[in-house]
Amino acid sequence: MSFWTRRKAIDTITDQAPEHRLRPTLSWPHLLALGVGAIVGTGIYTLIGVGAGLAGPAVILSFLIAGAVCACAALSYAELATMMPAAGSAYTYSYAVLGEFLAWIVGWSLILEYTVVCAAVAVGWSAHATEFLGPHGLLPHALLVGPAEGGVINLPAVAITFAVAALLIRGMRESAGANAVLVAVKLAALAAFVVIAARAFDLRHFTPFMPQGFFGHAADGSKVGVMPAASIIFFAFYGFDAISTAAEETRNPGRDLTIGIIGSMALCVVIYMAVALAALGAVPTDAFARSAAPLVYVLDRLNQPLAAGLVAGAAVVALPTVILAFMYGQSRIFFVMARDGLLPHGLSRVSAKTGAPGPVTLVTAAIAAAIAGFLPLKDIAALANAGTLCAFIAVAVCMVLLRIREPDRPRVFRAPLWWLIGPAGALGCLYLFTTLPQITIALFFVWNGVGVLTYLLYGRRASLLARAG
Ligand code: ALA
Repeated sequence: MSFWTRRKAIDTITDQAPEHRLRPTLSWPHLLALGVGAIVGTGIYTLIGVGAGLAGPAVILSFLIAGAVCACAALSYAELATMMPAAGSAYTYSYAVLGEFLAWIVGWSLILEYTVVCAAVAVGWSAHATEFLGPHGLLPHALLVGPAEGGVINLPAVAITFAVAALLIRGMRESAGANAVLVAVKLAALAAFVVIAARAFDLRHFTPFMPQGFFGHAADGSKVGVMPAASIIFFAFYGFDAISTAAEETRNPGRDLTIGIIGSMALCVVIYMAVALAALGAVPTDAFARSAAPLVYVLDRLNQPLAAGLVAGAAVVALPTVILAFMYGQSRIFFVMARDGLLPHGLSRVSAKTGAPGPVTLVTAAIAAAIAGFLPLKDIAALANAGTLCAFIAVAVCMVLLRIREPDRPRVFRAPLWWLIGPAGALGCLYLFTTLPQITIALFFVWNGVGVLTYLLYGRRASLLARAG
């Protein structure tokens, strides 16, 4: 069978030799916390300002558009994750539905997404840590930001990346417990923000509402308006996809994954709309848009230094949950691709003591740290979005194709109105992809060019399915 057409059998997708199996230690509360922990992060704490700079107060529409696209993707994910509860997420579903070659491209894009998200959040964390410590910080400016912002290296971002990797290598159950506490801190800070900012709500801050239109170009030729803002704000909404990589480690995949994926996504849509409305109504958008820590800025402007300090502090203790979830997801993608023979097999070994794939986690951390140390947040986030959008398109297409090919296959969770949700998710993601900065789109294709070469030179022949004939 050619590499275009060889596909995994859905019925045997969860069969694995014991030494390559991950341990089922997680239940739905862990997954819900892991989902919210992965979603609520640098997007709402930092990129909301970047989005407001591109779209003005109409960034609230960007939130709605990005949220709707992600909701369609989440429903498709839930259907496929419960049908194929194997680690590997979009890569695994694509392997079963679209064939090995397209699955490789999706997996390679997921590696980009997960590694780069870790880097983006590490940079966002570093900005809040600097803000929180203020003049008492121990490091000179040159060691706090990368070259694009006039520094040498973003050392706090590098440090937090390795700290989270160390936590993961200790084993997932302990990490999921710590994650739940940190998620509670993060949500409490956002709730406090909404309560305080809402008291200063003024409708006049919403005019002019859409200064850059839906889609326009700034004087320097860069893309501005509601849609380019939506393609950046998209970063804020994903993360629910990272928990589908935990499928093999859940005790009751059908129930745990459905609640985890749909529940975390729905909760975050509500939280984000509240935070965005409160922030935009509290202060003029242009000042807010220029800040590196916009929510902290809003509270400072409202003369609430204590609350500002608490929100910055909560970001410092809680943003690492996002890194945790994505680093976890990344190591699992790597793990599954290696287990399938598409990457060197040694990478699929798990520790007998903790059940965690240690070497893969360390490689992920090293690459994420190298990116976080030297590149600016906006560029890193856009690149992460490109990889994610590719995976989301694949998942929506897989969901629709399987409904057509195998309508009677049992489904634990069925996406409602699949004929609408699937195409809307795929086309929405495709459109958001085209509104990303040109340089991001170019980098994405370069990354996948390298991926295709790697596949042709190694995975095509080393693939377990290929060797099985
Ligand atoms: N949604 C995650 C964040 O905003 C990636 O940090």
